[in-house]
Amino acid sequence: MDAMTWPERHPELSDGAIRLRPFVPADAPWVHDAGQDPEIQRWTRVPVPYTPADAEAFVGSFAPQQWRDRIGWHCAVVDVDGTSLGASALVVTDAEAAVAEAGYWIAPAHRGRGAATAALRLLTDWGFDALGLRRIELHVDPRNLASIAVGGRVGFTSEGVLRQRTRRLGEQRDVQMLAKVVAPGE
Ligand SMILES: CC(C)(COP(=O)(O)OP(=O)(O)OC[C@H]1O[C@@H](n2cnc3c(N)ncnc32)[C@H](O)[C@@H]1OP(=O)(O)O)[C@@H](O)C(=O)NCCC(=O)NCCS
Repeated sequence: MDAMTWPERHPELSDGAIRLRPFVPADAPWVHDAGQDPEIQRWTRVPVPYTPADAEAFVGSFAPQQWRDRIGWHCAVVDVDGTSLGASALVVTDAEAAVAEAGYWIAPAHRGRGAATAALRLLTDWGFDALGLRRIELHVDPRNLASIAVGGRVGFTSEGVLRQRTRRLGEQRDVQMLAKVVAPGE
C-alpha cells in the first residue's frame, strides 16, 4: 500500500483569519504585481523578469495541472474577506517516502501579520493528516531570516546547511534544510 494518498477535492483550509484556496485565472494580475517585488525575486524561484504571461501560465495552467497530476497544491493565501495576500505550496518530492517540500510568499503590503506562518501551519497539518506525509521540507537561503522564523514558529527544525547547493540569479548559493517530520511509530 502507498504511504500517502491524494484527495479528489481541494481541501477547505482556514484558521478563521486566512484561507487557502485554489488559484483561478482572475488571480493573474495580483500574482504578477507581487512577482515584481525584489524580495520575492531574490528568495523564490519565480522567473526574472516576471511577465504577465508568466503569472497567467502559473495560475491558469501550471498550478491546476500540478493538482491534477497529484504532485502538489499551489494555492492562493487570502484573508477571510477575500483580499489576496500571497501564495503557498506543498509539492511532493518523493511519493514513495511520503516527502514533500513547502514554499510561500506574501505580497509586501501584507507582511508581518502572521500570514505566512498561518498558511504554512494549515498546509503542513493537511499534508500530515490528509495526505499521510511523513516529512515536509523547507529549502531556505540562510540569509532569509524572515522565512527561517516562519518555519521555526510552525515547528520546523534546521538540519544544517547544504553548501553551494543551488544557483539563482547568477549566484551559487547555500540552502538551509528545515524539516518537520512524523515521529517513527506515529
Ligand atoms: C518570508 C515571508 C513569506 C514572511 O511572510 P510574513 O507573512 O511577513 O510572515 P509572518 O508575519 O508569518 O512572520 C514573519 C516573521 O519573520 C520575522 N522577520 C521578518 N523580517 C525579519 C528579519 N529581517 N530578520 C529576522 N526576522 C524577521 C518577523 O518578525 C516575524 O516573526 P515574529 O512574528 O516572531 O516577529 C515574506 O517576507 C516574503 O514573502 N518574503 C519574500 C519571499 C520569500 O522569502 N519566501 C520564502 C522563500 S524560502
